[in-house]
Amino acid sequence: MQPEHIIIHPEVAPYVAHIQLNRPKELNALNLQLMGELRDALKALDADDSVRVIVLSGNEKAFAAGADIKQMAGKSAIDMYTTDQFSTWDTIKKTKKPIIAAVSGFALGGGCELMMLCDMIVASETARFGQPEIKLGVMPGAGGTQRLTRAVGKALAMEMVLTGRFITAQEALQAGLINRVVPVELYLQEAVKLAKEAAAMSPLALKMAKEAVLKAFDTTLEEGLHFERKNFYLLFAGEDQKEGMQAFIEKRAPVFTGK
Ligand code: CAA
Repeated sequence: MQPEHIIIHPEVAPYVAHIQLNRPKELNALNLQLMGELRDALKALDADDSVRVIVLSGNEKAFAAGADIKQMAGKSAIDMYTTDQFSTWDTIKKTKKPIIAAVSGFALGGGCELMMLCDMIVASETARFGQPEIKLGVMPGAGGTQRLTRAVGKALAMEMVLTGRFITAQEALQAGLINRVVPVELYLQEAVKLAKEAAAMSPLALKMAKEAVLKAFDTTLEEGLHFERKNFYLLFAGEDQKEGMQAFIEKRAPVFTGK
């Protein structure tokens, strides 16, 4: 069945697919259906050998303005517990291929949290980031207190989470939340360019390197180093390691196959 709230652009560059959140009238508010469609699309692209890197965007006005407040407003705690809507985030987190967020306009609440599940973030000058849940009488529920704090540190995370203040793209760049800021007409193009650069690498190495970087947030230094070393050694089982090193020796560009 065709998804209703996302658009999948299969090959925007070699080995790069693009998923666009598409509820523009609601500023891409993340309702249950959209999140389910996104989860399914990411799962399918993760299993597709013709894709190595995924770009995730909204539109110029909004990446996503958060979880759908209208869908949540009347729910009881038991409804929330039973539906467990944020469990979808756990599946998205398991995507092995790198995901690059292309962000313009609002990335708020669940939108900011979804963006922080991505591995690199390209923003337009108009991007605004925030965790405004406090203004709704609640708090971030899909990683905002944890991933934001790890990315920007306690001082700014506390300010954003406790006051709901939005930060600009420049502030986000300075704080280390995002990778780069470009003029609004270039944000998607720049994200695809970054994706293309990564997609020229070995797909196996990309996955294992992503896994190892993420491990740094989850474990002790000693365990993380051990994990990294194992992934490094494991890559010697694949043909891409032979190709990459042989190409260097022969002074030519490598051709990676992911085998
Ligand atoms: N949920 C549902 N609908 C939303 C929405 C959201 N998160 N954000 C915007 N919309 C809807 C608005 O209700 C409006 O719909 P109508 O035209 O039917 O009234 C439409 O999108 C356009 O929005 P605005 O008219 O408000 O646009 P604006 O430019 O004046 O303001 C905004 C933009 C500042 C982003 C404002 O829409 C806003 O504050 N949105 C809510 C942001 C927010 O609080 N997000 C956190 C949600 S909770 C959460 O995400 C929990 C979690 O941790 C996962």
